[in-house]
Amino acid sequence: MTLRLLLTMAFAMAAMAAKDTCVECHTALGGELQAPVTAFAGDVHKRAGFSCADCHGGDRNSDDYEVSMSKGRGYLGKISRTDVPKLCARCHSDAALIHKFKPQQRVDQLAQYVTSVHGKRLAAGDTAVANCVDCHSVHDIRDVKDPLAPVYPTRVVETCTRCHADAAHMAKYKLPTNQRDEYRASVHWEALSKRKDLSAPTCASCHGNHGAAPPQVASVAAVCGTCHALQQDLYNNSPHKPAFDAMGVAGCVACHSNHAVHAPSEALLAGDKALCSQCHDADSAGGKTAAEMHTQLQSLADSLTRSNDIVARARRAGMEVSEAAMRLADGQERLVKARVAVHNFRTAAVAAPVKEGLAIAAETHRAGQDALAERDFRRVGLGVSLAAIFLTMAGLWLAIRSVEAKPPGSQTAGSDQP
Ligand code: HEC
Ligand code: HEC
Ligand code: HEC
Ligand code: HEC
Ligand code: HEC
Ligand code: HEC
Ligand code: HEC
Ligand code: HEC
Ligand code: HEC
Repeated sequence: MTLRLLLTMAFAMAAMAAKDTCVECHTALGGELQAPVTAFAGDVHKRAGFSCADCHGGDRNSDDYEVSMSKGRGYLGKISRTDVPKLCARCHSDAALIHKFKPQQRVDQLAQYVTSVHGKRLAAGDTAVANCVDCHSVHDIRDVKDPLAPVYPTRVVETCTRCHADAAHMAKYKLPTNQRDEYRASVHWEALSKRKDLSAPTCASCHGNHGAAPPQVASVAAVCGTCHALQQDLYNNSPHKPAFDAMGVAGCVACHSNHAVHAPSEALLAGDKALCSQCHDADSAGGKTAAEMHTQLQSLADSLTRSNDIVARARRAGMEVSEAAMRLADGQERLVKARVAVHNFRTAAVAAPVKEGLAIAAETHRAGQDALAERDFRRVGLGVSLAAIFLTMAGLWLAIRSVEAKPPGSQTAGSDQP
């Protein structure tokens, strides 16, 4: 008897706990009032056991619309744009709660957000800036590592530029709206979208997710070095570092731009696309360094191309040149090093790897030439043997002919001899 009573009570309690009139009634309503329920199916908060009332307040046990959505039961209604960060932070700034679900999760999103341009302007009552749901969506919030999340690296551009590429939306701020077009033409977007290289930066990698700057650096302009550390170290020891600091110019950005970072080459050093000539006359120390570095890089690139061609020709002719091909890879590596070394803006830094590279180019060129000479030698050898075979065959044929040409009688007579 007692067992039965207990079971009945347990079932009743389970039914109470599972009751969610918000979902039931909104599912029945259809249209815009149903949309949040449909979207919620894939939401992380549903997976964590939360529902409508955990954000909107109200009483999920009452079937009565007036009770369920009453102020008396804590109903908040539609959350206003200025109230969203506070609402989300009620849980996301609560380490005790969040770490029950994810022990390593950060709980500083609101603290960071209030330091950003978005957060400061929202606090001042400007609702055109991004709040939590503009970046994470409202009822379809996903794990940030979920490829369907609007903050997933390949989707961040769309998320940010829904506002930032919309001239009408941004009109009153006097900010350019070209970030999307410039970024989509950059090496970074190419690496991310075509090669699926998730280590390439998106808007949020450089600007930070929630704060005014990404966590590792004091200003956005310093972010390049967090990924391109070699170039940063060389640059820091170059004559440009103190000069650009004094002018208030951000080093990397001054030469490569921020959003439209294109694939660089030695053409940036000299010629019509040159950067250096924008600030240095040809006969100044800077101008001369630029010209020398250009000549060096160009000569190494050209030498490696020539060696590559000759080795490839030898390989196509069936010669064994795998060792030369491997050495050529070393030569390419010296070229890569030399291009990085440009960032010291001193000729000597570039000259060292170039010298090594040129030696490799010369060595592999010789190996290619030798292989082709060997092929020619073998060809001559083959020709001589073929000629010898031909001559032998011709001799045989003549011999047979001369035997056949003899009168049949003389042979018979001969064989008849005892
Ligand atoms: C019996 C039906 C019913 C129940 C139960 C119900 N709702 Fe609603 N809800 C509605 C209707 C109808 C509307 C649209 C009319 C209105 O805004 O009052 C609505 C509107 C809303 C809105 C939009 C308000 C706005 O200003 O745009 C929210 C948010 C909402 N409901 C949340 C909830 C939550 C949370 C619960 C559970 C605690 C809940 N509802 C329970 C019927 C219901
Ligand atoms: C994680 C918090 C959260 C949960 C859970 C949540 N909502 Fe919302 N909801 C919001 C926020 C924030 C807004 C305001 C969105 C905006 O500014 O566009 C909103 C807006 C709404 C609106 C108004 C939509 C409009 O465009 O006018 C309705 C209706 C609504 N929610 C219903 C629901 C229902 C039903 C559920 C349960 C299935 C639910 N919400 C669960 C946070 C939540
Ligand atoms: C300007 C867009 C933007 C805004 C506004 C924004 N977020 Fe984020 N959020 C992101 C991005 C981008 C990520 C990181 C995605 C990744 O790691 O790949 C992120 C990550 C998160 C994470 C995962 C943990 C972490 O910190 O990396 C949580 C939780 C989160 N945001 C909550 C919030 C809350 C709460 C707010 C409002 C106070 C908010 N976000 C405002 C873009 C935004
Ligand atoms: C009632 C508490 C609560 C509220 C309110 C809440 N969240 Fe959450 N949220 C959680 C918990 C708990 C998790 C962890 C669940 C998980 O990842 O398994 C989570 C997970 C997330 C994640 C995924 C984090 C990750 O690691 O990928 C994002 C993004 C997020 N919430 C954003 C928001 C936003 C935006 C709001 C406001 C509209 C909000 N949350 C409101 C409790 C809440
Ligand atoms: C809901 C629209 C909206 C979304 C989404 C949005 N922003 Fe903004 N953002 C704005 C507005 C409006 C401003 C305010 C401009 C101002 O005051 O200068 C702003 C300001 C900024 C600024 C400061 C510009 C400056 O120098 O003043 C940066 C940087 C920025 N946003 C980056 C981002 C990034 C990165 C994302 C995506 C992760 C993003 N925004 C998503 C609307 C948005
Ligand atoms: C490789 C790093 C990087 C990436 C990726 C990047 N930005 Fe920037 N962004 C910068 C730097 C550096 C500045 C200059 C900031 C400064 O001087 O403080 C800047 C400036 C801005 C500004 C201020 C106005 C302007 O154009 O100068 C906005 C708005 C902005 N970025 C938005 C975006 C958006 C949206 C995306 C994605 C489409 C994006 N950024 C991608 C580095 C980046
Ligand atoms: C989050 C890491 C990250 C940040 C931040 C970053 N980059 Fe990159 N960058 C990459 C990756 C990854 C590639 C692609 C490398 C490749 O193509 O092999 C790349 C490629 C490049 C290239 C082309 C290299 C080549 O050989 O063609 C240049 C130039 C460049 N970045 C400059 C910058 C500048 C300038 C900034 C700052 C405004 C910056 N990067 C910020 C990761 C980053
Ligand atoms: C004074 C102009 C200038 C500055 C400042 C500058 N670069 Fe460069 N960068 C160049 C030139 C020129 C090349 C092309 C070298 C080549 O390919 O022959 C280049 C090439 C590159 C490359 C591709 C080749 C390589 O090095 O692997 C990357 C990546 C790069 N720069 C990143 C950076 C970063 C990060 C910074 C800031 C720490 C920076 N650059 C500062 C002029 C500059
Ligand atoms: C935005 C302007 C600017 C650009 C672009 C620029 N420089 Fe400079 N450079 C300076 C300034 C300013 C100084 C320090 C004052 C001086 O010595 O002329 C300097 C100094 C130098 C020096 C040291 C000169 C000396 O007297 O010892 C060299 C070498 C140099 N730059 C090379 C280059 C090369 C190579 C490039 C192209 C990749 C380049 N610079 C691009 C502004 C620039």
